[in-house]
Amino acid sequence: MLINLWYVAEWSDKVGKEPVRVKMLGQQFVLFRDEEGKAHCLADTCLHRGGSLSKGWVTDGNVTCPYHGWQYSADGKCVVIPSEMEDGRIPEKARVDSYPTEERYGMVWVFMGDLPESERFPIPPFPEYGDPNWRSVTSEWEWQADAGRVLENGIDIAHASFVHPMFGHNSTAQRNKIIKLDRHDNWATSTNEMYPPQLKGGLRRFIRKDKAKTYVHPTFYMSGNTIRMHIEANPKMHIIMFDANTPVDEHTTRTFAIQVRNFFRWRLFDKGSLKRLERVLREDTAIVEETRPFYLAETLENEVSVKSDRFMSTFRKMRRDLIEQRGWQIDSDEVEKYRGKKLFAIPSPSRREAQEQGIEPLLPLVPLSAPSRSVDVVESA
Ligand code: FES
Ligand code: FE
Repeated sequence: MLINLWYVAEWSDKVGKEPVRVKMLGQQFVLFRDEEGKAHCLADTCLHRGGSLSKGWVTDGNVTCPYHGWQYSADGKCVVIPSEMEDGRIPEKARVDSYPTEERYGMVWVFMGDLPESERFPIPPFPEYGDPNWRSVTSEWEWQADAGRVLENGIDIAHASFVHPMFGHNSTAQRNKIIKLDRHDNWATSTNEMYPPQLKGGLRRFIRKDKAKTYVHPTFYMSGNTIRMHIEANPKMHIIMFDANTPVDEHTTRTFAIQVRNFFRWRLFDKGSLKRLERVLREDTAIVEETRPFYLAETLENEVSVKSDRFMSTFRKMRRDLIEQRGWQIDSDEVEKYRGKKLFAIPSPSRREAQEQGIEPLLPLVPLSAPSRSVDVVESA
């Protein structure tokens, strides 16, 4: 699991008047709204005696601990201690970590790290969201799988011929190919030629002929562990699946999915769209949850890769660079050693700005190391 990235914490409409608990990167957080309605994210644990802020309530825009009523403002500072009202002194140290938030595409994005704003990878673009030329449906999915494995599955085109009968024929598997690949510093995109089956059901069968050549453009962003899958059902009819895959913990991934289409834009077709989106997610889950080892392999030494894996290798290489050269990977073995005994904090800008150690120690990270070479070899194959 990687820090210093934006992740989707929750759907915007799930964060109302009450605080909401979310888990990301194995840690608990509280989301709440201030009096202007802006969403905020703080570490969930009260620094007094460990109460859970998400089980409390909001008072004048401050989240209130249900144990002894301490109140924390949006920047994580404790601003009210009811038992000390007489002399009004609040210890300097009474500050929980506060994380930057942004609301986009009906989702609350939280920056899980302490990089200055100018150095953060941006939230992935999704210009079709909210555009009246596109009709959207949303869904949510939970996988008992590693977030890296989930992303890799989402950008892998070769599996469609075997896992998704809606998008692939195994008889045309040998004709699918990557025809273009563009790599950027924190995202990459590709174009693939495919020969999918005719769509079934009502008007859908007129969309394309059986095994007609089509183009599919998978893109991934390190921000949000996001996949954008752009499918050209035919040259005029397009579908885009935008999936932000949040690592809840080491073995659980939560997918916030929005699918948009530029055809059949009436509500009447939403049910079918959603059904197909969820069918695809179900088909992927059945495969991904059974892959071993459970976590995405750190190098390719124990796997055999071929040309059609090129785009996935691009993702692995980018991910490895963030681990080896930037040191953003959480050392989960070390965290596990202290389970239930010690609380760790994900570094936050508020802690960095206050130049304080903070009460809770920072989460241990995997130390920087020499770049592994095995991934490069396959990427250029
Ligand atoms: Fe939160 Fe005491 S534990 S106020
Ligand atoms: Fe799939």
